Amino acid sequence: MALPKAGGFLYGRPEPLANPQDVPEPMTPAQAPEIADLHDLYARRVPKMFYDYCETGSYTTSTFIDNTAAMAKFRLRQRVARNIDQRILQTTMAGETVSMPVALAPIGSLGMQHADGEIHACRAAQKFGLPFTLSTMSICSIEDLAANVSKPFWFQLYVMRDRGFAADLVARAKAAKCSALVLTLDLQVLGQRHKDTKNGLSSPPKLTLPNIMNMMTKPRWCMGMLGTKRRTFDNIFGHVKDVGDMTSLSEWTNHQFDPTLDWSSVDFIRKQWGGKLILKGINDVDDAVIAAGLGADAIVVSNHGGRQLDGAPATIDMLGPIVDAVGGKVEIWLDSGIRTGMDIMRALALGAQGTMIGRAYVYGLGAAGEAGVTRALDILQKELSVTMGLCGERDVKDVGRHNLLMPTLPFEVPPPDVKAKKRR
Ligand SMILES: Cc1cc2nc3c(=O)[nH]c(=O)nc-3n(C[C@H](O)[C@H](O)[C@H](O)COP(=O)(O)O)c2cc1C
Repeated sequence: MALPKAGGFLYGRPEPLANPQDVPEPMTPAQAPEIADLHDLYARRVPKMFYDYCETGSYTTSTFIDNTAAMAKFRLRQRVARNIDQRILQTTMAGETVSMPVALAPIGSLGMQHADGEIHACRAAQKFGLPFTLSTMSICSIEDLAANVSKPFWFQLYVMRDRGFAADLVARAKAAKCSALVLTLDLQVLGQRHKDTKNGLSSPPKLTLPNIMNMMTKPRWCMGMLGTKRRTFDNIFGHVKDVGDMTSLSEWTNHQFDPTLDWSSVDFIRKQWGGKLILKGINDVDDAVIAAGLGADAIVVSNHGGRQLDGAPATIDMLGPIVDAVGGKVEIWLDSGIRTGMDIMRALALGAQGTMIGRAYVYGLGAAGEAGVTRALDILQKELSVTMGLCGERDVKDVGRHNLLMPTLPFEVPPPDVKAKKRR
């Protein structure tokens, strides 16, 4: 079997699809046995520009590809003749009870993957007993989402140069009763995704001839978009002085990610927020040590799904060394590359208490809105439950290194830098 050539969805498949936008629909979303099938439906139903936005990484996409490819190295230990009846997947993440150790990661422009995408995904997550994270770069605003769902959700913050706007976002998240703030640290400058540059990505899409031609082949998506008023970055639009139209909005956004963000700013935001804080985008032992010392409720070992530092290691490779350095001092979660319940099991076995999923639920959303996200969660839950059982585990909280055959990493991780604190 050939190794996957591009993108996580090919993981475990013999052949890459020639052009995933052109393959015929094989089944309904409810019949999809695995996440890869939801991907195929998603590829058919969403315009190329937004499909490409999701299904790529930065620059050469090496880290994007490695995130999923590296998973297979971690072999699970097969155990037999143990009572594995009535398996328990319920646990907690940052003190919240979850029906399985999974939270939905923040995804920018989610409302472009499916009309009202944030509302659909959040409702599916909440009905499933899982947290949903709303991105700063969402289409649906914090207030709008709060008015359309029944329980608190999490809010993800990108710190902007306009610190007044960042403070305002924190205050808005508090007012909307968000139950945790997810502070993303790995996007101080933007890693380029060549496909987005070529496609002229924008929300809403520019009506160029190729875009119109492609959208005409996606009638379901078009009908949805025509039926909603949510088509641009509503967290920003109307909240920033001098941003009144699409041109000023995109200029503002492109120049706003703050390259000066440092650990003292993180501490400042922690105090300003005052609630549960999750630090996302850590993929290095030294950074994990500093983050744990700041008193965060959890850290997410993440490389932004391979969308930022091209050449960074797969997160699953970094998880073990990070757990060895700070396990027990802070809750550790993993994202980037999770496409199966077996991947969730690998992360837990390495010592993570939870995971976040990105593309796995975006595929479901693009394929069938709320029902598609529910299907994606169902698939992951069943796969995790069966995998736990075949590893001889009944309770997700008992999963650990004893469930793994550890591979030798393809690189050496430097020991923790004891002087790191002084240098930061
Ligand atoms: C289309 C897309 C948009 C994203 N937007 C954001 C964002 O707005 N904020 C953020 O912190 N992370 C963002 N991420 C990263 C995800 O939160 C998460 O770290 C990543 O998707 C995990 O990798 P996976 O997709 O392989 O599961 C985005 C990822 C994708 C695929």
